[in-house]
Amino acid sequence: MSIEQLARPEIRALRPYVSAIASGTSIKLNANESPVAVDSGLSQGLNRYPAIRPSHLTEKLADYYGVTPGNILVTRGSSEGIDLLVRAFCRAGKDSVVLTPPVFELYDIYATVQGAQRIAVPLEVENDFALDAEALLLACDQQTKLVFLCSPNNPVGTAIPAEQVLKIVEARAGKSIVVVDEAYIEFSDRQSLANWVNTCDNLVVLRTLSKAMALAGARCGTVIAQPGLIALLDSILAPYAMSSPVIICTDRALSEKQLAAAGRRIELVVSERDRVSAALATCDAVQYVWPSEANFLLVRFNDLQDVTKTLEMFGIAIRTFADDDILKGCARITISNAEENNVLVDAIRGIG
Ligand SMILES: Cc1ncc(COP(=O)(O)O)c(C=O)c1O
Repeated sequence: MSIEQLARPEIRALRPYVSAIASGTSIKLNANESPVAVDSGLSQGLNRYPAIRPSHLTEKLADYYGVTPGNILVTRGSSEGIDLLVRAFCRAGKDSVVLTPPVFELYDIYATVQGAQRIAVPLEVENDFALDAEALLLACDQQTKLVFLCSPNNPVGTAIPAEQVLKIVEARAGKSIVVVDEAYIEFSDRQSLANWVNTCDNLVVLRTLSKAMALAGARCGTVIAQPGLIALLDSILAPYAMSSPVIICTDRALSEKQLAAAGRRIELVVSERDRVSAALATCDAVQYVWPSEANFLLVRFNDLQDVTKTLEMFGIAIRTFADDDILKGCARITISNAEENNVLVDAIRGIG
């Protein structure tokens, strides 16, 4: 059985929308577009629809992620990849997804919107938020279509060893898609699992240009999987999903020169992360700083309210988790440049 058989029957039977294709013609009267291009500041007129799927950008991203173009679907942020997966695989009121809180909230939100059940397998807080793979496999039921793993994890910052992920992928073969969200992998020394997708047909890797590539405003994410799964998700992605300005900008941002610059930025963030982590660990207001493989730190404070009030006075915003039982007293702090990081550390050091 191919793993695509796990998708909702109506999605497997779907006849995808056929968009207007007009390559090689000069008078385009087939898409109800305007013949007039308004002045948008772009070299390419926005009166025309963009490519149905941006093939050149797909090739560049495939190159960057070390897979083939057939392994890739370009989406509006990796958020959209999560949504597509839940919509394609989960029947409302019937199917379930497995989550490992504390974890990126969108998995839960999209599953809720789709009417899928959510099965939570909490990370081990006392063990630096390690994943209990045995507990996760025991928690999966017959209806579990998706297992979401976030590595490195947001908001915790720790990653799941590749052997553990692959063990879960193998144990769920033929039963569930295991989605590994690698939004922060560039900040970690670990290898991406992208090159496993052709070996394991139930493995999906999500990547994004929003974090290390500094393109959050462009909204460009990538689903990486074996071609059958990519075709299935493609069939429910909106036609012309990526707008012309985004295709142009992200294409440029993936030039060799820009990639080299991104590499230097990543090195700086990693060294700043380690410096800030060590500095915060010596502050009286801080109880614990978790080890991080991402571009942020999770910190437990003695008095979180006091900290947020003080930081507000310095004009600093951090992400707090006041309503979360596991993360009581904790905040996630993004690593910025040295100057802003110093303001943060000095402000926290000043709290008695
Ligand atoms: C773990 C994780 N996955 C996915 C996303 C979504 O990223 P994108 O901007 O590509 O939609 C985020 C954003 O914060 C994230 O933290």
